[in-house]
Amino acid sequence: MSLFIKKPLAQLMAASAESDKSLKRTLGAGSLIALGIGAIIGAGIFVRTAAAAGEHAGPAVTISFLIAAAGCALAGLCYAEFASMIPIAGSAYTYSYATMGEFVAWIIGWDLVLEYALGAATVSIGWSQYFNEFLNTFFQVHIPYAWSHSPLEISNTTVGMYAAELGTRGIVNLPAILILFLLSLLLIRGTAESAVVNNIIVVVKVAIVLLIIGLGWSFINPALHTPYMIPADAGVVKVSAGTVDYSETFNHGWLGVLRGASVVFFAFIGFDAVSTAAQEAKNPQRDMPKGILVSLVICTALYILFSHVLTGLVSYKDFLIAGKEASVSYAIKAAMPGYGWLANFVTVSILAGFSSVILVMLMGQTRVFYTMSTDGLIPSVFSKLHPKFRTPYKSQWLFFVFVSLFAGFIPDKYVGDMVSIGTLFAFVLVCLGIMILRKTDPNITRPFKTPAYMIVCPLGAIICLCMIASEGWENWARLIGWLLIGFIIYFGYSIKRSHVRRGVVEGAVDPVNPKYVE
Ligand code: ALA
Repeated sequence: MSLFIKKPLAQLMAASAESDKSLKRTLGAGSLIALGIGAIIGAGIFVRTAAAAGEHAGPAVTISFLIAAAGCALAGLCYAEFASMIPIAGSAYTYSYATMGEFVAWIIGWDLVLEYALGAATVSIGWSQYFNEFLNTFFQVHIPYAWSHSPLEISNTTVGMYAAELGTRGIVNLPAILILFLLSLLLIRGTAESAVVNNIIVVVKVAIVLLIIGLGWSFINPALHTPYMIPADAGVVKVSAGTVDYSETFNHGWLGVLRGASVVFFAFIGFDAVSTAAQEAKNPQRDMPKGILVSLVICTALYILFSHVLTGLVSYKDFLIAGKEASVSYAIKAAMPGYGWLANFVTVSILAGFSSVILVMLMGQTRVFYTMSTDGLIPSVFSKLHPKFRTPYKSQWLFFVFVSLFAGFIPDKYVGDMVSIGTLFAFVLVCLGIMILRKTDPNITRPFKTPAYMIVCPLGAIICLCMIASEGWENWARLIGWLLIGFIIYFGYSIKRSHVRRGVVEGAVDPVNPKYVE
């Protein structure tokens, strides 16, 4: 039987039809945009931007944002075509199963673990930084460096709360594991974040970004923006996990800007989460593309202005040492006298803001695996529901352990890069998939069509591939290793148990809210 066997569309659509047991279609375009922004703004802008500026792009990180946004917008158009074509929950995995077949769906589903599970790990590491900043600001205590960092990091700063711990090696990042534990518990109890709470968090996150842009603008020191790109002779800096040598290919000039794009790309991840709410959208055909694209445009504008201000407040090199952690609070304190309150507000709100991103990612991960499990591709433990709460509790615990291993023991730099490369790879597949489908299945109803698809699809794939290329062989090797593990599982396990292959027809399965599964 073909590797590319498809899941029947009719079966998927039946599962999405509104009934007493399915989700209510309550979300309009506004709520979808809010959902998108809620999932998008997080550690990418408040943690990874400083890292991208410090290591690769300098003030030209603004251009990095433009490149990353271009890749996302083009891939976003393709996502929108997918999402409107099959307006049901389940993300790129589900769409590709119905359109490109099981093998491609497997690769995408497996790859999404890098996006969702490791994405949650990266944001939880950022949460840990701001948590220590919070404890230090309000209670003058902090969790010792060793217990809030990975064993691959060594404290290298002589200022701030870790000054007395210079040279200390990390053991485990306990606060990161703590937040993952609390949010996993919350998800198991089924206390889904309500739309109201999500909207409040969205408003707060956007408010922080706007406040920093508005209030910080007059503190920009133009000297810090010259030269705009990092020069090759900027030197070598010892950092907590190794050294940064600016003369290396991807650490200065235009190639540094490109590498920076693959780092800040993380800040856009999550806009595809809008597509997972297709089942709850009032008018998915019209509103999904709007939700995806408008949230992207708003975030891009905010990110570019924000990063322009951030790199104008302190030198990009500061983000390697003293301002490496809780970088935004650091920059405000260092360059905006009299605005201590803003730094404090940022610290507190970021803790809430990051929590909502981690929650969405942990939930997205278990829901994708839930669907893959009901398709027979992975063990049934991933679709076991809690007898009382009707949530996939075993899966949630398994992922808590998996994600904690990364959050506790690996620096955010490595985990974040894996998230970026994994997600970029999924985007490439989606762009190519849409192009292929236009040829192979021209007659499927497409309420939203990617405009000029012969340009948009290949260009989207090329931009994402350029960002992948800039990530370097270590990251390519990690991605290839992860995919190889996936192939072993697919050919050793999944192919024999696949329900579609064996002709098993599922009941009306609702992958987003398993509570409703009968
Ligand atoms: N875009 C999300 C963030 O920046 C993943 O945290």
